[in-house]
Amino acid sequence: MNLYLETYGCQMNVNDSQKMESLFAAEGYALVADFRRADLIVINTCSVREKPEQKLFSALGRYLPLKRRNSRLVVAVGGCVAQQWGAELQQKCPGLDIVFGTHAIDALPAMVREVRSSGRPQLDTAFRSSIPSLDIIPRYAAGTLTAFVTIMQGCNNFCSYCIVPYVRGREYSRSSAAILAEIRQLAENGIREVVLLGQNVNSYGLQNEGEFSFPQLLARVNEIRGIERIRFTTSHPKDMSPELIAAFADLDHLCPQIHLPLQSGSDRVLARMGRGYSLADYLDKVERLRRVNPEIAFSSDMIIGFPGESDEDFQQTLEAIRRVRYDTVYSFKYSPRPGTRAATFPDQVEEAVKKERLRIFQALQDEISSENLRKLEGSVQDILVSGPAKRGGDQWVGRTGANRIVNFSSPENLTGRFVAVRITRALRHSLRGELA
Ligand code: 5AD
Ligand code: SF4
Repeated sequence: MNLYLETYGCQMNVNDSQKMESLFAAEGYALVADFRRADLIVINTCSVREKPEQKLFSALGRYLPLKRRNSRLVVAVGGCVAQQWGAELQQKCPGLDIVFGTHAIDALPAMVREVRSSGRPQLDTAFRSSIPSLDIIPRYAAGTLTAFVTIMQGCNNFCSYCIVPYVRGREYSRSSAAILAEIRQLAENGIREVVLLGQNVNSYGLQNEGEFSFPQLLARVNEIRGIERIRFTTSHPKDMSPELIAAFADLDHLCPQIHLPLQSGSDRVLARMGRGYSLADYLDKVERLRRVNPEIAFSSDMIIGFPGESDEDFQQTLEAIRRVRYDTVYSFKYSPRPGTRAATFPDQVEEAVKKERLRIFQALQDEISSENLRKLEGSVQDILVSGPAKRGGDQWVGRTGANRIVNFSSPENLTGRFVAVRITRALRHSLRGELA
């Protein structure tokens, strides 16, 4: 049996898809790259912004007609759009066999079996008080160096623009025992780098009495032999505690890199977003982190054209990125999400204005990103070599601790090794170097 898996959205969704792959591998399914060969098609969706949703409908337009020729084909939709639309999605899309929500991944194999035996469509979008799928261990191909480990999911913050609390549910943390056991196993299988995932990792453990806090968890991961690099995403600026800041000084495997979404540089907009911090609070955290380690590379998410965003608010956002000097900013036009407060705000910004502001924003951030890279010319960086570069030949690629991509040449295959590379040239989104 063949499984075709299509994934939209964030790293969390990618990790969920890896879990599905491992569940179906146990049921005898092999992953295929061509959907025409599939017996089971799973689309793992995202609803954070508008576009990914449209993507689902065009994908279903591609896959559902295949059922006319292949009666064995089962089509399932999961993830945030499935959670949000539930039964409505089934009504809208005749022939869609399965709709499964963000808490139902572990139930998916049984739902597929049920469709195969009864032919009846299946729906499971219940929120559970515990989420068993968090403990499913994804499969990694031999030789993989980096693994993603979901430590919590959901969010209690209810930022006014965000659909996540509605589609992922409330914050729920996995037990630290399960997390640490998984990471030890990964280390034994050759994984050298882990990325801890959650909508709001700073809230890790707060829901479970006696559980480690996030900084305490990081300290335990730091002790696991074989794990050389630790990263995490996403953390909320308002929850960036002194303990977490100190971790960047104390934990030798914690990488000098942090994704800390600012969302807007205007206090007025931040307040209407319900973010719980001002620009000054944010800059203070950045400053403290830089004091602990001046090498820390920052990245952010930014929403352009939030309701009521004036030209002055927008200028403040531009000023904020000039001050923080992010390596990378994921910037998005504001997109009203059904059921969220901001979608009902009367002062929505015109599409053309959003578009123009986004263009200006991205041009400035591109400049800043390039300047950051150029500053590294001449420095020597520790690279974890991930494999051959796209160009092939004797070219290899790896990443610095701050997560910058470096290409270099070597006659020898250094995959999986740490090497010192002198940076010779900054390109648009990556660095070139030579073995030092
Ligand atoms: N419109 C635009 N961007 C959004 N994000 C979340 N909700 C919206 C929305 N309604 C962005 C935020 C968040 C990232 C994952 O997606 O910047 O940090
Ligand atoms: Fe959404 Fe805000 Fe929660 Fe992030 S912190 S997932 S933006 S509600």
